[in-house]
Amino acid sequence: MHPMLNIAIRAARMAGNHIAKSLENTDKIESTQKGQNDFVTNVDREAEQLIIDTIKKSYPDHCIVGEEGGSIQGKDTDVQWIIDPLDGTNNFVKGFPHFSVSIAVRMRGKTEVACVYDPIRNELFTAQRGSGAQLNNARLRINPIKDLNGAILATGFPFKQKQHAESFVKIVGGLFTECSDFRRTGSAALDLCYLASGRVDGFFELGLKPWDIAAGELIAREAGAILTDFSGNTNYLTSGNLVASSARGVKSILKHVREHANEGMLK
Ligand code: IPD
Ligand code: CA
Ligand code: CA
Repeated sequence: MHPMLNIAIRAARMAGNHIAKSLENTDKIESTQKGQNDFVTNVDREAEQLIIDTIKKSYPDHCIVGEEGGSIQGKDTDVQWIIDPLDGTNNFVKGFPHFSVSIAVRMRGKTEVACVYDPIRNELFTAQRGSGAQLNNARLRINPIKDLNGAILATGFPFKQKQHAESFVKIVGGLFTECSDFRRTGSAALDLCYLASGRVDGFFELGLKPWDIAAGELIAREAGAILTDFSGNTNYLTSGNLVASSARGVKSILKHVREHANEGMLK
């Protein structure tokens, strides 16, 4: 195993176990608002610090980008760790047991290793570029759907960008006439891992941040998924707008996205 994956797993397990333990004592969870419908808790921040401390012990010179402000400009600018210490904060705050820790390592702009940990189910999703994706050491493959007939699609409502509500609902409406059903789980990182596992057949969401998708992207890709932005290109880490499925699944989803997307979504 790549030594950086080893450290990523150690950090993700440590942070995930801290998050799960915090749910046992909800009185101690303090939530503050950082944007429109956007919350952060003391537990997000504590988890991020645990991850950063673990990385720095082994790789003091690496750069780190953490969602909750724990970014570090290291001497070695070739390597960048991208961390979402708690993906699914709204679920966590409600006690809805579905969230994850997401850690990716990018080297010279390419994601090399990734892990997403679900502490409630003790499920560890991992990937190494060119070596496949695993769930607790079992190899993952996407469901190679040919069309949307019978497909279950995951998505996320643009709750932080309500200006896109109308277009989003139209896209979902179009897709719903063709697919079987939708899931809105509340953790984009796990949505991509569930795609990798064949638990859902496709995923699309807009307005995502690099830490939401950096790790899940490699895991889904190594399990055979195709990922594009809303224009069918590969700028999803920058635009935050992502479609993921089999090649034919992506084509079918994109058809509806293109029909109803507003101009801002296609950039
Ligand atoms: C959120 C989750 C959610 C997605 C949001 C993300 P957070 O991340 O991934 O599923 O719909 O767009 O921001 O804020 O819980 O880390
Ligand atoms: Ca997130
Ligand atoms: Ca988060």
